[in-house]
Formats: sequence, structure tokens, C-alpha cells
Amino acid sequence: MKVLITGGAGFIGSFLTQYYEKIGETVTILDNFSTGSLQNLDAIEFKGNSVRGDIRDDHLVDELIKDSDLVIHMAAALGVSNIMNSTMESISVNITGSEVVLKAASKHKKRLLIASTSEIYGKNPKQPLSEEDDRLVGTPQNIRWSYSDAKAIEEAMARALNIQNNLKVTTVRFFNTVGPRQSGKYGMVIPKLVESALKQEDLMVHGDGSQSRVFCHVLDAISAVTKLLESNKSIGEVYNVGGIGEVTIKELAEKIIKQAKSSSKIQYVAYNEVYPVGFEDMQRRVPDTSKIENLTGWKPERNLDQIIDDVIKYQKMVLEAEDAK
Ligand SMILES: NC(=O)c1ccc[n+]([C@@H]2O[C@H](COP(=O)([O-])OP(=O)(O)OC[C@H]3O[C@@H](n4cnc5c(N)ncnc54)[C@H](O)[C@@H]3O)[C@@H](O)[C@H]2O)c1
Repeated sequence: MKVLITGGAGFIGSFLTQYYEKIGETVTILDNFSTGSLQNLDAIEFKGNSVRGDIRDDHLVDELIKDSDLVIHMAAALGVSNIMNSTMESISVNITGSEVVLKAASKHKKRLLIASTSEIYGKNPKQPLSEEDDRLVGTPQNIRWSYSDAKAIEEAMARALNIQNNLKVTTVRFFNTVGPRQSGKYGMVIPKLVESALKQEDLMVHGDGSQSRVFCHVLDAISAVTKLLESNKSIGEVYNVGGIGEVTIKELAEKIIKQAKSSSKIQYVAYNEVYPVGFEDMQRRVPDTSKIENLTGWKPERNLDQIIDDVIKYQKMVLEAEDAK
């Protein structure tokens, strides 16, 4: 089978690439290497076809999709700092780029899986969140919601093409997915805190740290995606994919310091010192994953301690390689 993975040089994309190569499929990746990297491909000893290009290039995307059996669309502009600082670019990539991928998959009648996000639910206080729950997003004047809105448009396009053109598409809403090869540069909390802990620097916690999240190991997320793709019953459906064990960001920082055996301290930083006035954060975000479990039997297997250990191990390797230069 020929598999095309957009964003295949990224964090989640590189694990999917590795999975499909390992089971003997022919993998092509399309990536502009904006947040993904060649190092990610080197780390998995990628042997397939790596195409440097943009998902908004409709001619290129059409050619690549025409030649594939399965398309996994992971490319997106994400990370709070990316969304806040490169807003126009991220809206364009996430809406226009996704439209190009969706239309080409529909035209060529290819099986497709797209990556959506728990950001879809916005600040809906109902927890845990299940797939039918409402979106509750703030004013578009608050730019952080543009990522949620763009992904909602992408989901709506997928839904429309599924109904009108019988596009065989499955939508996955990832909740905070973490693991080796994730960059802390764009606002992802665990890699950022781990890096600070390993460098014996203060861990910056936004607000009072009472906001909580649930983290999912990337390997659990990959098994969720591949199980969904093995079932035709997932076509036309949306699934939450998230981990277990809710933790406040304060507790998370304390755990990271302990597991990294670090002497770092926690420093609390007011939101308005790091983000524009009016920035809103969710107090809790907990996934209900019963829908995917009912279909595939999937459950996350790795807990937060394992996630933190794996990120520490990876970041130690990165820091040692930097020191050796
Ligand atoms: N990591 C998470 O916690 C999380 C949570 C929710 C949703 N998601 C979604 O999962 C998908 C993968 O995210 P990730 O965490 O691996 O992030 P990532 O930034 O590592 O991966 C995105 C990849 O897309 C590539 N890309 C960006 N713009 C592109 C463009 N215009 N053309 C071609 N390639 C482009 C990047 O270079 C990168 O390799 C994204 O769609 C993201 O929105 C991730």
C-alpha cells in the first residue's frame, strides 16, 4: 500500500511514518519543514520519498494523492506561539491547505484521516468532553481561537465531502499529545518544562498553575490512528484521542523536577506577561475516549510518569548532542 503523510516530518507524523514503514508500506511524506525537521526523519531512518512542499500547492498535492492508497493529513500550523505570532500564515495553512488535501482526496476517491484537535471544544466547561459536545469559543478578536476555528472549518469541509461526495474520511481530535521528538519551541508545555529542568533553569508556569490537562503518549495516539484506519466503521466519524490522569500544571512541573532529578524551581508568570491582554486559557480539558474504545477496543496504555520519562530521555540525548558540537 502507498501511504501519503502530510506533515510526516513533524512530531506525530514522524511516528506514523515510522509505523507504516515498519509494517512494510511505501511511505511518501509531504512537508515544508516549518516545525518538522530532517532530524526527525533521520531519527527513524526514513527510507521513503520525502517531498519538500506546501499543502497549499494544489498541483503537487493532486499528483501525490493520485498516486497514493491512503492519505493521512497531519500538516498544520500549530502551537500557541505560532498561532499568536504568525496568525495569517497559520489560518491560511490550516484552512486553505486542508481544503486542498480534502478536495484532492475526494476527487481521487482516497481513504483519508485528518487531524483535528481538542481546541475545537474551546472553553466548554463540561468535562470530560465527548464528540457531540458544543464548541464554546471566545471572540475572534482573541486570536488564540483562530486555530480552533480553522480546525472546525476543516472538520466541516470533511463532513460535507463525506456526505456529498462519499469521501472516506475519519477525523481524529487529538488532546495534548506528547513524547520524544516534540519541540518545545512553539508553546508545548511538557517539552518546554523538561528542557528547563534539565538545564537547571526555572520552570515557567503560566497563571497559578491550577489549570489541568490530560496528556497522551504519542505511541498511544499512533495506535489509535492506525486502529481507526483499520475499520471502515470509522468512516464519516469523529473520535477523541487522549490520555489518562488529569494533572494540574503545577503538579506537572513538580513531577518533572522530581523525575529529572533537577534542582530547578517553579516560577509563576502571569498570562498577560507572556500573551496579549485578553488571552484565555481553559481551566480543564479532559477527553472522553469511550467512542474509539467502543469501536476498536483502544485505550491509552502509558501513564504520565512514562510520558515524562520518555521526554526526559529524548531531551537528554538532544542536549548531549548539542554539547558535543
Ligand atoms: N501534538 C498535539 O498535542 C496535537 C494536539 C491536537 C492536534 N494536533 C494536530 O496533529 C497534527 C500533527 O501535529 P504535531 O504535534 O505533530 O505538530 P508538528 O508541528 O510537529 O507537525 C506539523 C507538521 O506539518 C508541517 N507543515 C506545517 N505547515 C505546512 C505546510 N503549509 N505544508 C506542508 N507541511 C506543513 C510541519 O513542518 C510539521 O512537520 C496537526 O494537524 C495538529 O494540529 C496535535
